[in-house]
Amino acid sequence: MEHSIADPLHTRLTFITGAGGQLGRALAETFPDAVALTRADWDVLEPPLRTFPELVLHAAAWTDVDGAEADPDGARQVNVEGTRTVVSLGAPVAYFSTDYVFDGQKTEPYAESDEPTPLSVYGRTKLEGEREIRDGWVVRSSWLFAPWGHNFVLTMLRLGRERDEVSVVDDQRGSPTYVGHLAEAAREIVRLPHGLYHIAADGDCTWAEFTEAIFEEAGIECRVNRISTAELARPAPRPAYSVLRSEKPETPRLTHWREGLRACLARL
Ligand SMILES: NC(=O)c1ccc[n+]([C@@H]2O[C@H](COP(=O)([O-])OP(=O)(O)OC[C@H]3O[C@@H](n4cnc5c(N)ncnc54)[C@H](OP(=O)(O)O)[C@@H]3O)[C@@H](O)[C@H]2O)c1
Repeated sequence: MEHSIADPLHTRLTFITGAGGQLGRALAETFPDAVALTRADWDVLEPPLRTFPELVLHAAAWTDVDGAEADPDGARQVNVEGTRTVVSLGAPVAYFSTDYVFDGQKTEPYAESDEPTPLSVYGRTKLEGEREIRDGWVVRSSWLFAPWGHNFVLTMLRLGRERDEVSVVDDQRGSPTYVGHLAEAAREIVRLPHGLYHIAADGDCTWAEFTEAIFEEAGIECRVNRISTAELARPAPRPAYSVLRSEKPETPRLTHWREGLRACLARL
């Protein structure tokens, strides 16, 4: 394995879990010397690998928010027990968490010192997973999208090309975050003191506003019909407002979500 003298990070044997997922793939690009472990390489519900890393970027998770309501034990196993197994490797862990640990009652951005009160099984299991991290970084981000995997941007691009009109929720507000930008920030995070960091794109929008921007940037003619969360009637409750901010001056700042959207579309 080649190591860059300019980047001390590359001297640490680094594992990426969930390397087949949206964020995991971006981390594998950003940390090219890391050992990128997909679920097929290592299911975190299985005993730990025999090789011991010096750093773990833990992106494996149960991320099916609605599915978690139907199978809370399944979600808990991956997000809590799986995280415990990752921690048992003995290396510092960067654990990626979510804005869904908050209940959305606030009307101004959530900072690290705000008390999490998750509404959903997914949010609760991610919060429990956070508490497994004794030695490392908890990085909360929001509304992730990537040029690959399952995500809102790819779904809307498909629907927008198939239909004349889409109905999208307009009463949930957050910050859509491009995985490439979050992965770059992770390079800085693992040099910072251990602790909790909120890292999401600058700016905020509703899902309907995000959809309009996706269509505008991609040159798609499709009308966005704004609906409410109640009309969509999904199994898992979601926070109405989950914009994140960091109160720590050393936290890396990301560019506006629209820049992230452009960067993502440029890769398609
Ligand atoms: N997506 C979002 O909007 C969002 C927002 C905030 C925070 N996050 C957090 O960011 C992290 C990455 O999310 P993402 O969007 O990249 O999720 P993702 O695309 O669903 O990727 C998660 C990956 O974890 C893998 N995985 C699931 N169970 C596993 C297991 N038992 N062992 C090993 N791997 C397993 C999945 O494999 P399979 O596909 O084979 O199941 C998938 O490749 C997660 O911790 C998530 O909670 C996500």
